[in-house]
Formats: sequence, C-alpha cells, structure tokens
Amino acid sequence: MIDEPIVPDMNWPITPPLAESLKDMFDLWVFLDGRMVKGADASVSVWDHGLLYGDGIYEGIRVYGGRIFKLEAHLARLFDSARAIQLAMPLTPEQFAGAIIATLRANNLKDAHIRPVVTRGPGKPGLDPRRTIRSSVMILASAAPPTFGDKPVRLLTAAIRRKAPLSIDGRIKSLNYLDNIMAKLQSNAFGADDALMLDPSGFVVEATASNIFLVKNGKLMTPALTAALPGITRQVVMELSVKRFGAVFEQSVSLSDLYTADEVFIAGTASEIVAVGEIDGRIIADGKTGLITADLQKDYKELVRTSGNLVFDS
Ligand SMILES: Cc1ncc(COP(=O)(O)O)c(C=O)c1O
Repeated sequence: MIDEPIVPDMNWPITPPLAESLKDMFDLWVFLDGRMVKGADASVSVWDHGLLYGDGIYEGIRVYGGRIFKLEAHLARLFDSARAIQLAMPLTPEQFAGAIIATLRANNLKDAHIRPVVTRGPGKPGLDPRRTIRSSVMILASAAPPTFGDKPVRLLTAAIRRKAPLSIDGRIKSLNYLDNIMAKLQSNAFGADDALMLDPSGFVVEATASNIFLVKNGKLMTPALTAALPGITRQVVMELSVKRFGAVFEQSVSLSDLYTADEVFIAGTASEIVAVGEIDGRIIADGKTGLITADLQKDYKELVRTSGNLVFDS
C-alpha cells in the first residue's frame, strides 16, 4: 500500500448536495455476493468485467408500501437478459427474490427503488468472458421519488439512435447504457427533462429509461418492440388501457405522430406515468396532462398500492 497520494489534486471535491445524498447511500445495506454489506464498504473489484466492459445486466424495480410491484416479471426479464448474454446466474429466481426481500428488510425500506445488478464478475482483463472467475450479484435499494415528479416533461429528440436490433437487442437490459447517456447529455444541454430516442430508420423508440405512448382521436398507440426495451410498466399500461379504453396499438410511430398527438406520456418503473408536455420545443396539445393519461396515472397508482405480496411483517 502506498500511503501518500500519487497525484494529490485528483482528490477533487464533490458538490455538497451530492455529498449529502451519497452519505445516505453509504448507510444503506447492500446485498453483495451473498452478504449484507454497508453501502460505504460495498465495492466491486477493479477487475470486474461489468466495470471494465459493461459486461453485465440489471433491473429496476419498485416497492410500494412493502409490496414489490411485478417482481416475477422483473426477475423473468433479468433471467432472460442473462440467458441472452450467456451469463451464469449464481442464484435461482427464488433465491434472487429472497435476496431482494432481505435487502429491503435490512434497510426497512417499504417504498423504494431496487436495482439488482449481475456482472460477469472479476477476472483477467480481456473481453473474453472465460477470463472471469464467477458472476457478481449486487442488490441496491434506496428511497427514490419518481424521476420527473408529476408535472408534464419536456423531451428533446436525440441525435444518437437506439441501435437495437442492429447491435445490442433492446430486450437485453445490459450495463451498456452509453447511447442513452449520450442522449441524456444532449437533452441536458438543451434544458429538456429527457431525450427521445429514434431507431436507425427514424421511427420513435422510447425515452432514455421509459417507454412512450400517444393518444390520437381516442386511440392509444405505442412503438412496436423492434428496438425498445419491453417495459414492465408498458405492459401494465397496455393491460390497464384494455380495461378502460380498449386495445393499445403497437405500431410504427413517427415524430409527426407525436407532434400532432392529443396526448403523449412516458411510462417506466423509475418515472412511473408522466405526461409529455413538449417535444423539440413544440407544445403537445395544450401542454398539460391529458384526460386519458390522468386516468391511467390514477389506475397505476391504485394498482401498485394493492398488487404484490407484502414482504414485511406488519
Ligand atoms: C431503455 C429503457 N426503456 C424503458 C424502460 C422502462 O421499463 P420498465 O417499465 O420495465 O421500468 C427502461 C427502464 O429502466 C429502460 O431502461
């Protein structure tokens, strides 16, 4: 161990609000390879291929009032992502569910966002997964309000395209989010809340971490799953819509469809359902949350409150 810093000025300051929120994270228990570890000590190896190459997968799940929403669907997607990249899962789905519940209980978190991550694990540098020793599993859970709050958001169409299925299939929820991060950087630069991503042909795919819907003349539509992640919230919205308004049409969606829509909203675990009030500087309809969007928000809130098993002893 070398005690003296090699480059002293690399110890750059972090902004005070971020430092505060990091302190909270450090106090939380994290599930790390079979053990509960305090956030401050929960570190992965610098040799981990998840870090070195983005070789890994993850999920984003929410718990509401002690009920995990759509846990089975999230685990099914996680295990499908693992199979798609031939990643050995060291836990069964049942053990994984148990580890998620244990993480929530350890932190007494009844309303939170849960992030299970499985990486290819530590190994020798080199892309070949056979250079790794074993997969690594971590489960992070923390309180997190909906990403954008409940007011309509402003989207900006990103220059960078969602490349699936030409390259990584959109069905794989992998640790490779740099495309979406590039899109986010662009929307940040223009003061928008999030970026809208197109496929290589120019059709609308999704926002950076949520699926997108539009309403025109009472008809609900969403881009077909050619390049988008098959969102669990997307599926729930489709089921809720069938009950209330009839079928949702999965089809090609162009930017003009969105610009001329009566309502547009995004849907995802982290953001939940939130109206889109503006895209590329154009106000969508009157810029407010539309009636169908509001009904779906209400139904969604009710569903997350009541579905799923309670994982806490009352
Ligand atoms: C690229 C992308 N699209 C859509 C979604 C929404 O999926 P879900 O509703 O399962 O959270 C996510 C979620 O993280 C995502 O990363």
